[in-house]
Amino acid sequence: MSTTLVRADSRADLVSALAAHGGRVGFVPTMGALHDGHLALIHRARAEVGTSGAVVVSIFVNPTQFAPGEDLDRYPRTLEADLAACAEAGADIVFTPAVAEMYPAGLDGGVTVDPGALGSVLEGSSRPTHFRGVLTVVAKLFGLVRPDVAVFGQKDYQQLALIRRMAAELCLGVEVVGVETVREPDGLALSSRNRFLDADQRREAVVLSRALFAAREDAARGAAAALGAARAQLRTSHVVDLDYLEITGTDLGPAPQSGEARMLVAARVGSTRLIDNIALTLGTQGEN
Ligand code: PAJ
Repeated sequence: MSTTLVRADSRADLVSALAAHGGRVGFVPTMGALHDGHLALIHRARAEVGTSGAVVVSIFVNPTQFAPGEDLDRYPRTLEADLAACAEAGADIVFTPAVAEMYPAGLDGGVTVDPGALGSVLEGSSRPTHFRGVLTVVAKLFGLVRPDVAVFGQKDYQQLALIRRMAAELCLGVEVVGVETVREPDGLALSSRNRFLDADQRREAVVLSRALFAAREDAARGAAAALGAARAQLRTSHVVDLDYLEITGTDLGPAPQSGEARMLVAARVGSTRLIDNIALTLGTQGEN
């Protein structure tokens, strides 16, 4: 698709770029270092709003979702390549604000969005301030872009669930759409952080997705069998340091006895933290 990509660095530029478009607005928030997973979201946004609508991508490495000691400083920044990828994927507007533009009142002490109890489990237990930062910046971006529909990846399943709840519970008037995780041919979920893996770690990192696929295969025999199958895969690597492996309901509540569920995994591979998840259909067949 050939479109002319407009880059907006400031709120004022964003408002004028949006005013130049009619139709529905589809929005894809990102932190850049774009890969095919992000591009799948851009294509989905286009499909949602059609050729008469506007597809907006934001690229902003949001400091408030990184805790001290996390990888904010080394987070990959590849703006030129990202702009080219957005143009190629047919986005209309790329919003690339500076930190002061998004946080005019500073990074501390401003108004924030409390994620509630779902913000302190799973990812939130390892990263207690993470989802407050995510929801706060996404709320600000929604306020600036005023999208009709916003597209997020299932790769960050808990983030997607929290953004859905924020949009519904705070009555933000935006439809939140989730897109299936895009994977490498060997199964590893695409992530901006995969570029930190050396060749050895890259080979080992595939046990995360292998564990999830093994669990999906064994899910008909119930949750314990699924967990056992995943753990057996994870034990095959001494490079992958498990943070959590859990089965929950699709809403991230307690796992059902049977039926639709989710398995979520997080692990460190060297100094890089990776997450992944998969849909499971739990059966009740038992071990025999
Ligand atoms: P980022 O990690 O850049 O991800 C931007 C979007 O791309 C998220 O919705 C994420 O779930 C999706 N994504 C990442 N990898 C994917 C994959 N392999 N397949 C499909 N989608 C994938 O998530 C964030 O940024 C930030 O927290 C943000 C929401 C932008 C707020 O700062």
